[in-house]
Amino acid sequence: MNNEIILKTEKLNKIYLRGEERVWALKDIDLTIKKGEFVAILGPSGSGKTTLLNLLSGFDKPTSGKIIFLDKEISLMKEKELQKIRSKYVGFIFQNFLLFPHLTVYENITLPFYFNKRKDKKEKIYEIAEKLSLISRLKHRPSQLSGGEMQKVAIARALIIEPLILFADEPTGNLDSENAFNIFKIFETLSKEGYTVVVVTHNWELISKFNVRKINLKDGKIV
Ligand SMILES: Nc1ncnc2c1ncn2[C@@H]1O[C@H](COP(=O)(O)OP(=O)(O)OP(=O)(O)O)[C@@H](O)[C@H]1O
Ligand SMILES: [Mg+2]
Repeated sequence: MNNEIILKTEKLNKIYLRGEERVWALKDIDLTIKKGEFVAILGPSGSGKTTLLNLLSGFDKPTSGKIIFLDKEISLMKEKELQKIRSKYVGFIFQNFLLFPHLTVYENITLPFYFNKRKDKKEKIYEIAEKLSLISRLKHRPSQLSGGEMQKVAIARALIIEPLILFADEPTGNLDSENAFNIFKIFETLSKEGYTVVVVTHNWELISKFNVRKINLKDGKIV
């Protein structure tokens, strides 16, 4: 692993307004993530895991504090500029896969090319499908796949732009333990290849089987 810092936060705070009430979801979060690190964000429900992931990935803005991605302060960027960075460097994987049911596996994987107005690179798609053992599924629709396969399609879709960093929010929340293990194995392999992987999970048992850096949140603070 090299020591290049790709993501850093300084005194990150997030306060949500819920009617009159202020919800202090993150408190003074300082963290540094290096290239190729495999990082798990852990903590009980409501501890701020999703909030932190959404800030780190540029989907939401902090109330105060800095987020520095590749030496650029993304917390100050306009949406359009942020969108450019996300589409170039960031892959996102969701608990419920978010595949398009009427598209084939192949088409689902190619979607980022359309959103980024890039040319569909057939070779790249086959290379990634091969790596994730999806070649025989490329013509299927999501309803014809197992949950584990659906999540692999979502990972393939995230990888297609060759992102620097992958974020996943409870990616195994809808999977049985065997499939969950396989998905984490894929993340581990990807991190060894140089991808930076940041995963939110509740699953301590699963995490204990992997060499992953743990960030524990409690009431919006790192503990
Ligand atoms: N859009 C919002 N508006 C108001 N409060 C919010 C909003 N999103 C999250 N919160 C609150 O912020 C706190 C942190 O929420 P967050 O979703 O980050 O927790 P989490 O650790 O991801 O929980 P879970 O494990 O249940 O997904 C909670 O108290 C939550 O109710
Ligand atoms: Mg959450």
